[in-house]
Amino acid sequence: MKFKSKLLSSEVTSKDFWMRRKTLKTLSTSVALGTLGLAKSFAATGEKDKDLIFSHVKQFSTKENRTEFSKASSYNNFYEFGTDKSDPKKYAHELQTSPWSVTVHGDVLKPKIFDLDDLRGLASLEERVYRLRCVEGWSMVIPWIGYPLSSLIKKVLPTGNAKYVEFTTLYRPEEMRGQRRSVLDWPYIEGLRLDEAMNPLTLLSFGMYGSLLPTQNGAPVRVIVPWKYGFKSPKAIVSIRLTEKQPQTAWMQGSPKEYGFYSNVNPNVRHPRWSQSKERRIGELRKRDTVIFNGYADYVAHLYEGMDLRKFF
Ligand code: MTE
Repeated sequence: MKFKSKLLSSEVTSKDFWMRRKTLKTLSTSVALGTLGLAKSFAATGEKDKDLIFSHVKQFSTKENRTEFSKASSYNNFYEFGTDKSDPKKYAHELQTSPWSVTVHGDVLKPKIFDLDDLRGLASLEERVYRLRCVEGWSMVIPWIGYPLSSLIKKVLPTGNAKYVEFTTLYRPEEMRGQRRSVLDWPYIEGLRLDEAMNPLTLLSFGMYGSLLPTQNGAPVRVIVPWKYGFKSPKAIVSIRLTEKQPQTAWMQGSPKEYGFYSNVNPNVRHPRWSQSKERRIGELRKRDTVIFNGYADYVAHLYEGMDLRKFF
């Protein structure tokens, strides 16, 4: 993995130069908001040697210290590869992430099967540095690369019936050894209310730390919802379905008393087995206070006005 947030002039080859010129034209609005990054990426398996061109948009990014890449890519929850934090990195190479397609369908006027290049090229890529708070009580700060999920949803034209978005992730037990055990009712399914999915913070992500997503972090495409516990950010997505009914998620199915549909980060609502008032930032010794909506209240608190967050946990 290589991270190059800015190109040195000595590193500019003719191809890079051409790519940058092309990008400068297509990303002129994003450039006004931030600086451009161009990174060559080497995913663990599947896609190799792809250029990710992205802008750094400061508006939604935290200035907090970033978690080291080595930690963010080796301490993972991805039960499809096993339940130990070290399993995803250990076994991710067994999964082929290319070719890949994502079906966007359901209550939409223009359903479509996107291959990965089409999907990634659908909108300008941005880097967003977000906090990630796991329901287990640890957190990280990760620079993701992607675009707002709303850009994709708008393209398929939701009908008036669409109220929710359901994400289904890959089921391939031959390559994902964790799926050979019934830890969860596979495939891993997650969901959001449509207005949550359309919120500008909700990201469809293809990369992190300047490069394509490592397989253990959800390659080739995942969703990031930074104000909710990490399990609401599904990895390795193959289907996005707009629906009228609230989706049944894998965690609600597995343990409905512990994991609700909303799962907003909330220090005042305990998990039945532990308090959520503090968290351990990976790489730090002392625990820190957990903040309501993971610190994103200004962007999302209005979505839950009038709702009892203890009931809708
Ligand atoms: N997505 C899938 N498909 N399978 C999983 O087991 N785990 C979730 C979420 N997305 C998970 C998943 C949980 S519990 C967390 S905390 C985050 O991914 C972790 O993301 P990270 O490993 O990139 O930090």
